[in-house]
Amino acid sequence: MKKLFVKTYGCQMNVYDSARMAEALAPSGYALAPAPDDADMILLNTCHIREKAAEKLFSDVGRLAPLKARKARSGGRMVVAVAGCVAQAEGGEILRRAKSVDVVVGPQSYHRLPALVAAAEHGARPVDTEFPAESKFDRLPARGRAGVSAFLSIQEGCDRFCSFCVVPYTRGAESSRPVQAVLAEARDLVAHGARELTLLGQNVNAYHGAAPDDGVWGLGRLIRALAEIPDLLRLRYTTSHPADMDDALVVAHRDEPKLMPFLHLPVQSGSDRILRAMNRRHSADAYRRTIDKLRAARPEIALSSDFIVGFPGEDDDDFAATLALVRAIGFAQAFSFKYSARPGTPAAARDDQVPEPVKAERLAALQALLSEQQDRFNADFAGRAVEVLFEKRGRHPGQLAGRSPWLQPVHAAAPAALLGSIATVRVAAVEPNSLAGVLPEVAA
Ligand code: 5AD
Ligand code: SF4
Repeated sequence: MKKLFVKTYGCQMNVYDSARMAEALAPSGYALAPAPDDADMILLNTCHIREKAAEKLFSDVGRLAPLKARKARSGGRMVVAVAGCVAQAEGGEILRRAKSVDVVVGPQSYHRLPALVAAAEHGARPVDTEFPAESKFDRLPARGRAGVSAFLSIQEGCDRFCSFCVVPYTRGAESSRPVQAVLAEARDLVAHGARELTLLGQNVNAYHGAAPDDGVWGLGRLIRALAEIPDLLRLRYTTSHPADMDDALVVAHRDEPKLMPFLHLPVQSGSDRILRAMNRRHSADAYRRTIDKLRAARPEIALSSDFIVGFPGEDDDDFAATLALVRAIGFAQAFSFKYSARPGTPAAARDDQVPEPVKAERLAALQALLSEQQDRFNADFAGRAVEVLFEKRGRHPGQLAGRSPWLQPVHAAAPAALLGSIATVRVAAVEPNSLAGVLPEVAA
């Protein structure tokens, strides 16, 4: 077997894509290796969403060059492939700047990776950043293995064109996989041991897949069908847009117990002026009303979000509106970022960019508030009984680790036989990054 080392940057979609690329390369004799040192192939699956993504990539590639040279000295060949959104955005420029890169492949054409790598093994340096007519999903090998909690891509690309975001450019137009293809992959994952599926898409609740009845299903309808898979215990989906949160999806949160009561719903800002400038197409109030509907449908639902501070033109009042929205809603968890100008996006061209120190100050204030909310959310679990889906062995012998319905990591002393099943534990301690649980039988 040849050794394949994969490094994944960025979002969960990239984690999924990396797994599928590794599966696609298995028939060519590549098996995953834990370290890059004497790998036969290195795959860097890149992210372009924020910061100096290309610079990060080139410095990582620079660090690989000596490994590649050493491999060559010992008579071998190390193929270095760059995939993901930087590959899509920079294309052949990567080959010009980084002599040790052999293959550049975009997110929509990685089913062609075996042929590209075969060419590279013979000295070629192919670039494939097409958006091909065929779907990569129809060409990739079946999954064959799965963890207890598995990702399943159901939708890709985005048509919303938020003015700060590169996704519509790197991932292309919004497209949904057909219902049958999603159901088949889900059944395959569950047959291989998956008990929780997280449905993925850049704008996953815009899902509108061709259905077996000739109609088109939205995400709510798809979730109902997936929930019928007997051994599937839990469903989640991410990432969503507030304006695509339709009633059928809210109803799924009310009626479908397998759909977990935790939702990542990015709002970005609490200021209507900034939301307009971001081209988000919803107001802060519309977001609050959506959350009200979700909480009416599923009272125990907990919310997560993404925020951007220092978007061009954001003033103190705008930022105060963001803090006010956070206080009004109360988040269990959140991600927040300083605005990062992405070349080619409308917001990057604006001349009212916010100075770096102001961004830093706002980010610190927002993160202080969000982490206080997160701590309060978790502290509330002390002494409570929670259901945990055990996914893997814990850090200490005899321990298993898993997640609560609210995505909190939980560990407990538990027999390995419980891997892949849901058990109720009592929360004995709330730790900084996880809950320590005790199984009733073990406690007795
Ligand atoms: N600058 C900062 N954050 C960004 N995000 C997307 N684009 C940018 C950008 N240019 C954030 C958004 C999005 C998350 C995935 O990344 O909050 O929801
Ligand atoms: Fe980017 Fe999400 Fe906006 Fe689409 S909806 S443009 S992926 S932030």
